[in-house]
Order: sequence, then C-alpha cells, then structure tokens
Amino acid sequence: MGRAATVAITGASGLVGSALERHLVSQGRTVRRVVRGAPQRETDIAWDPTGGTVDASALEGVDAIVHLAGESVAEGRWTAEKKRRIRESRVLGTRTLVEALGSIERRPRSLVSASAIGYYGDRGDEWLDERSAPGADFLAEVCQAWESEAQAAEPLGVRVARARIGIVLSPEGGALAKLLPLFRLGAGGPVADGRHFMSWITLRDVVRALEWLVDSEGSIAHNLVAPAPERNADFSRALGRVLRRPALLPAPRFALRAVLGEVTGVLVSSQRVHPSALAAGGFEFLDPTLPAALGALLGSTGVRP
Ligand SMILES: NC(=O)c1ccc[n+]([C@@H]2O[C@H](COP(=O)([O-])OP(=O)(O)OC[C@H]3O[C@@H](n4cnc5c(N)ncnc54)[C@H](OP(=O)(O)O)[C@@H]3O)[C@@H](O)[C@H]2O)c1
Repeated sequence: MGRAATVAITGASGLVGSALERHLVSQGRTVRRVVRGAPQRETDIAWDPTGGTVDASALEGVDAIVHLAGESVAEGRWTAEKKRRIRESRVLGTRTLVEALGSIERRPRSLVSASAIGYYGDRGDEWLDERSAPGADFLAEVCQAWESEAQAAEPLGVRVARARIGIVLSPEGGALAKLLPLFRLGAGGPVADGRHFMSWITLRDVVRALEWLVDSEGSIAHNLVAPAPERNADFSRALGRVLRRPALLPAPRFALRAVLGEVTGVLVSSQRVHPSALAAGGFEFLDPTLPAALGALLGSTGVRP
C-alpha cells in the first residue's frame, strides 16, 4: 500500500488529534480536520457526528481517515445523559462517517478508528492481546459497538484498523496531567492495594502508532499500549521518583474519585495489555518502559525539558 499523502482527522482538537496533526504535517503529509461547527480553515471538512451529516464529497481524494472523535470519558460526572453522549458520539459518529464513505466514488484506502483498552473490561493479572474476549461493563460495551460500526466500512473496500488505545501519557492532558498536581504536592500514591495493571503509552508513541496504522496492511485490531504495563503501585512509585516526591500514601478510591472524578474508574480497572499486533508488524516504541518514559515526558527533575 502506498503512503497516504492526505489524511483526514476527526477529533482533531483533542489531546491525541492535535498531536497527530502536528506530527503528520512534520512528516510532509497534508491534514484535513473534520470539524464540528463552522470550519475555520479552507481545508476543514464539516460534520455533525450525531446529527448524521458530513460533507461527504470533501472526503473524496483523502487517502486515509483517523477517527478519534468522541465525548470525553475523563471529564464530567457520568450521569445517564453523559453516558448516552459517550456512547452516541462514538456509535452514531462512526456510523455517520461510514455512511458518507458509502455515498462517494473515490474512497479513502484506510480508516484508522480509535477504540480503547476499555474493550477488555476489568481483567486482573490476565495478559490480554487482540484476540482476548471483550469485557461486559459500560466502556467495554461502548468499545464493541464503536468498533463494529467502524468495521462496516470494510465491505466498501476501505481497510479498517481498530486502534485500542491505552492510557495516553502526556503532561499536556489526559490522566497524567490530572495526577501531576497531586503527586507534585507529595500527596500521590497507589490506589487501594495498587495491584491493578495500568496499560499506558506515551503521546508521541500513540501518534507514531496511528501514523504507522495509516500506511499498514490488514483490517485487524491493534492494541496501542507500550509493551510493559505496570501495576498501579509501581506506576505511582515511578512517578514519585521522577518528581522527587514521596508517593507512598495509599489513596482510597473515594478520595481519588473526589479529586479526579470519573476517570478514577478507568484508572482502577485492571488491564494488562500486550501490543501483540504492533510487535508482529515490527513497530518500534520510542518509550517502551515507564521510568524512562516519565523521565522523557517530565524531565529528570519533574520539570519538562
Ligand atoms: N487519551 C487517552 O488516554 C485515551 C485512551 C483510550 C482511548 N482514547 C480515545 O481516543 C480518542 C482521542 O482521545 P483524546 O484523549 O484525544 O480525546 P479528547 O482530548 O477528549 O478529544 C476528543 C475530541 O473529540 C471531539 N468531541 C468531543 N466531544 C464530542 C462529541 N460529543 N461528539 C463528537 N465529537 C466530540 C472533540 O474534537 P472536535 O471539537 O475537533 O470535534 C475532541 O477534541 C477518544 O475517542 C478517546 O476515547 C483516549
């Protein structure tokens, strides 16, 4: 398969999408953002993910789509209404995109569609790869529905790569940015007994892996996680060490929930995930192990280099 010269991104304003756009442009590719609301650039493509409309003709001539859009899982309380938005933004949004692909002649060669390791549910110490069975909780169910909407593009001749993303580490946003203030105060530590596994990936590696999926072959699921998931206690210790702060105080779940909100549920469910498909394809991580990754992200003194 040739190199995709033009890549459309949904959710381009988000943590991953904005870093992906910068990276793709730095690699000499053209990026077209698929945006909600009024387009700001001439190259923007308008859509209304839950309203079911997208400027389909603008997708002709795009070589690949990276579909990241979805209501934030980490921000805000999970009321019934919020859960509906989390699900519908992904399920209906993906359907909107795939229906648009069905309506055009010159289709993108590939659709790289985000999902999450939440697909596997809460699984203790079990090693999970892409062939592992899905879980049954809310996020697991959302991920399954989200992935199956994306796969509906395959009969249209579009290669679909499902990207099951782990906990993305960046001081700019996501879980690490939320944990940092607590740890900088010396008030961070393991949650409960700290035995649950956290499958993480740095922002620069998730972006490189998404780019890699844009040009790769085959319609399969890929776990986008570093090859060395860590128990929460070890994660906390490594973060404390990089910040030169004690990180020993076990935080009860309810206290963490008070500070971090709903993302606590994601951080305390145990997923020990291996990136088997990326490894089989020869993908190389810049940040394969946690202490070095945190050092690269935060600098050896906890201040960004
Ligand atoms: N960050 C992580 O640790 C992580 C882990 C696993 C999976 N993921 C998944 O990967 C994707 C990207 O993650 P991220 O961290 O970049 O997310 P993010 O920062 O929350 O960005 C998601 C983007 O989706 C769009 N969006 C927000 N609400 C929406 C809604 N109700 N309907 C449709 N679109 C909406 C927005 O882009 P526009 O305003 O430009 O439309 C937003 O910037 C998400 O689907 C997320 O669930 C992330």
